Amino acid sequence: MSPDSGVAFLRSLFLLLVCGGGVDEIQADGPHWSYTGSHGQSHWPELFPHCGGLSQSPVNIDTDCVKLDPSLRPVEPQGYSTLSSDDFTLENNGHSVQMSLPSSMSLSQRFTAVQLHLHWGSRGNGAGSEHLINWQASPAELHVVHFNSEKYPNVSVARNQSDGLAVLGILIEVGDEINPAYENIFSHLGYVKYAGQKVLLPSFDVGALLPERLDQFFRYNGSLTTPPCFQSVQWTVFHQKVSLSRSQIEKLQTTLLSSEFGVLPPTPLVDNFRAPQPLNQRVVLVSFPLDVRVVYSIGETIAVIAGILFGALGIIITAHFIIKSIRSKKHEEPKQEVVYKTSNLEEEVVQQLEQQQP
Ligand SMILES: *[C@@H]1O[C@H](CO)[C@@H](O)[C@H](O)[C@H]1NC(C)=O
Ligand SMILES: *[C@@H]1O[C@H](CO)[C@@H](O)[C@H](O)[C@H]1NC(C)=O
Ligand SMILES: *[C@@H]1O[C@H](CO)[C@@H](O)[C@H](O)[C@H]1NC(C)=O
Ligand SMILES: [Zn+2]
Repeated sequence: MSPDSGVAFLRSLFLLLVCGGGVDEIQADGPHWSYTGSHGQSHWPELFPHCGGLSQSPVNIDTDCVKLDPSLRPVEPQGYSTLSSDDFTLENNGHSVQMSLPSSMSLSQRFTAVQLHLHWGSRGNGAGSEHLINWQASPAELHVVHFNSEKYPNVSVARNQSDGLAVLGILIEVGDEINPAYENIFSHLGYVKYAGQKVLLPSFDVGALLPERLDQFFRYNGSLTTPPCFQSVQWTVFHQKVSLSRSQIEKLQTTLLSSEFGVLPPTPLVDNFRAPQPLNQRVVLVSFPLDVRVVYSIGETIAVIAGILFGALGIIITAHFIIKSIRSKKHEEPKQEVVYKTSNLEEEVVQQLEQQQP
């Protein structure tokens, strides 16, 4: 082996170790795609026909148009908080950062967990989430993906079946405190900077990534938000958001690249969120009576009460002056001029009333 070929061998070994076999996996779903440019989201339907379907995700959730369904039971994660003996694999797949989940995690037996991943924006930009609430974006969104293990053998088979997947959507907002649960992922982001890189993480309590209120959520039928956009997802988007510190969100926005190691120029992995899709004939269900409505009705009630009070006050004041002017006319005391000479208008009214009296 010549020194040169030795160097080449070491380099390819290094690339294999550092970069993994990511390329095949990244392109496992057919043609290359991205969020912007010539393979950007407006072109997805040409490359992946399902992306042009009528039940696509994400959507904007208009809280005035959701339908209350009190029969929706709280989400019950099982095995989320049991530490697994297996490590989790964290991977940069070029479109997101994704963490594998053990099959011991599930939603009420029927749906087995597969992976979680995030969507985010770019530095100094409030956008990043896929789902919008009243056209309001959040800086990031976590997706926890499960497949219907009652009916299908694995996620590859389930992902293009209408009842194949269940995804939890967690909207992430900026808060003051560092969220320690998310540090279990974020502290390792530097190891998966390049597309195709993977790293093993010690298992941790995945339940701590979810909001506290697992009973308050929106539910609708939709799709994968990335190609091939199969319309196979029962979506659960929690109403309560999870707070991360600004520095945590900036780390997510600035650490990763969508390009592989050694590929120039390095391309930041940012703005990996799809635009909201038409709801078409779909209805978004809500599991609880929304606060927003209560606030509106309190506001309306205050307005009505205020209106009644001001109206009544006006009537009382008017009646007061009329009665006083009638009395003063009856008694014809000289004092009346002093009392009612506060304005010309009142004087006129008093005079008119006097004239009308028989
Ligand atoms: C999924 O299950 C199908 C049918 O049993 C099988 O052919 C396929 O190899 C499985 N895929 C994976 C990734 O395990
Ligand atoms: C799902 O995909 C498989 C293989 O790609 C295909 O044979 C099957 O018909 C698809 N099922 C549905 C419901 O589209
Ligand atoms: C989703 O689709 C299934 C099957 O068509 C239907 O039974 C269910 O009610 C739908 N869910 C929602 C939230 O519309
Ligand atoms: Zn997603």
